[in-house]
Amino acid sequence: TDTLRLGIAGLGTVGIGVVKIIQRQAALLEARTGKEITISAVSARSRDKDRGADLSAYAWEDDPVALAKRDDVDVFLELMGGDEGPAKDATEAALAAGKDVVSANKALLAHHGQALAELAEEKGAVLRYEAAVAGGIPVIKSLTEGLAGNRITRVMGVMNGTCNYILTRMDEAGLSYQEAFDEADGLGYLEADPNLDVGGIDAGHKLALLASIAFGTRVAFDDMRLEGIGAVSIDDIHRAADLGYKIKLLGVAQMTGRGLEQRMTPCLVPATSPLGQLVGGTNMVVIEGDAVEQIVLRGPGAGEGPTASAVMGDVCDIARGLRLPIFGQPAASLSTAPPANAESP
Ligand code: NAP
Ligand code: HSE
Repeated sequence: TDTLRLGIAGLGTVGIGVVKIIQRQAALLEARTGKEITISAVSARSRDKDRGADLSAYAWEDDPVALAKRDDVDVFLELMGGDEGPAKDATEAALAAGKDVVSANKALLAHHGQALAELAEEKGAVLRYEAAVAGGIPVIKSLTEGLAGNRITRVMGVMNGTCNYILTRMDEAGLSYQEAFDEADGLGYLEADPNLDVGGIDAGHKLALLASIAFGTRVAFDDMRLEGIGAVSIDDIHRAADLGYKIKLLGVAQMTGRGLEQRMTPCLVPATSPLGQLVGGTNMVVIEGDAVEQIVLRGPGAGEGPTASAVMGDVCDIARGLRLPIFGQPAASLSTAPPANAESP
């Protein structure tokens, strides 16, 4: 059997989830891909931390860039986070060396995905990031594979588990914002900088990545209308409930006659609708296409198992030899859609 050798940078919630799947499901993964999937080396900040998994069989690298360049690494998994610094440096180093990369890092991709995709194609490498959008929901695969026969007309949904969890717990359990925030933290939902979550930025990164894939355009995060949940009070939630609504941090991306409209803002949705009934860390993505009409994808948007599940989906695709560009066309040929809210000349 061939072997696919991984290097994993980042051994937090997601990285350890990936290690556990590989250790637990080795035989299943080999049966499904025809390749033995192994871990050559790992990296994190602290070597001594007890991470709840046996890492003794893997080489250790203090420097993620050194890990990315190792000869015994075929696929580099970037599971550290951050839109600059080691995550960017190591991802670039892996791609420059012609190694395939799987990333869960929506912040990095929303800011540098275009350049990274171009570098990957130039070097004949694959860059995949299913885990970066809506955690365990295979939404990128749905867009690029199952819905390939459609012209996508709209993508919308709830894409941040932390915000949905906080809003749900404030509504249903009467918790204060801080109490609900602390619970979300305990579940491993939060970004290293939680302002990315509650400020709507993390969800905005995800929507920008989805819009780019759905409409075949360059990622345009900076053109998005963005507002977080910081100004949503318990009174707002109760007043919405009295009128039969829930408050959700809702993203919408659609191509209009004026260009690409993208917004991520707190919205009122009918309490009885699928979006209104979405509770906890669950995400929901609604995709509309000219042939399929509408599909609704719902599932855990964050946490160890669900996010690792999405990472492993990408690893298995690479193990099977699936190497098509994620956009179906070279990244360099993608156009920049004018923002729909641009002023008329
Ligand atoms: P996390 O629990 O904070 O883990 C981050 C890991 O990266 C830690 O092991 C940390 O090392 C390591 N690390 C950070 N900076 C490093 C550096 N400079 N050099 C080497 N290692 C470094 O984060 P996470 O929740 O697993 O998230 C990882 C990535 O997945 C992020 O991009 C995040 O946005 C994305 N993501 C997370 C989720 C989720 O539910 N958590 C879902 C989807 C996507 P130490 O442990 O030694 O500190
Ligand atoms: N912090 C993110 C969330 C993790 O709460 O949805 C998943 O991307």
